[in-house]
Amino acid sequence: MAKTLVTYFSQTGNTKKIAEAVHDSLQGEKEIKPVDEVQELDEYGLIFIGFPVHSHGVPLRIERLLQRIPAGKKIALFSTHGSITGSRLSREAIEHAVVTASKTKVLGTFSCRGKVSAHALEVLSKSPEHRAWSEMAASAQTHPDEGDLEDARTFARWVVTLSAHK
Ligand SMILES: Cc1cc2nc3c(=O)[nH]c(=O)nc-3n(C[C@H](O)[C@H](O)[C@H](O)COP(=O)(O)O)c2cc1C
Repeated sequence: MAKTLVTYFSQTGNTKKIAEAVHDSLQGEKEIKPVDEVQELDEYGLIFIGFPVHSHGVPLRIERLLQRIPAGKKIALFSTHGSITGSRLSREAIEHAVVTASKTKVLGTFSCRGKVSAHALEVLSKSPEHRAWSEMAASAQTHPDEGDLEDARTFARWVVTLSAHK
């Protein structure tokens, strides 16, 4: 079976924790790398890509990676966000990522909450662009927690099962 790559962007470690949980749950040949270290993509049979939601969107370096994934490649996406899980504010970035990667085979998506430092929240909540999600983010302070990591492992195993049949 071809190698699996887990790659991510993470500024404060939340998305990295999810990436490590995904990586830990994988069997067989696998690699984990920050997005800035990813070069060749052809050698991977399946690629997990994770990012923090930034300003309602996908960080530019992840957007660029999504644009250069070979057509037909199997991928799965995950994100962390301060807003409440299931809210439009938490979903719009991952939905955008799916559209950006529309030439690939997106096997699944996963997202969970990730804490934001009190200082960052105080600063960001002053700008109109950030007010809505930052008001929700106060209750994200314990995330990602062990439940989120377990969900991420289950998600990863499910994607691997799907990838064997697609
Ligand atoms: C500059 C900035 C912008 C953010 N924008 C959003 C946002 O639009 N929506 C949201 O739900 N969370 C937002 N967040 C919260 C992060 O997505 C969340 O804390 C995430 O878990 C950070 O992941 P990391 O530790 O991997 O960097 C933002 C955080 C920062 C620092």
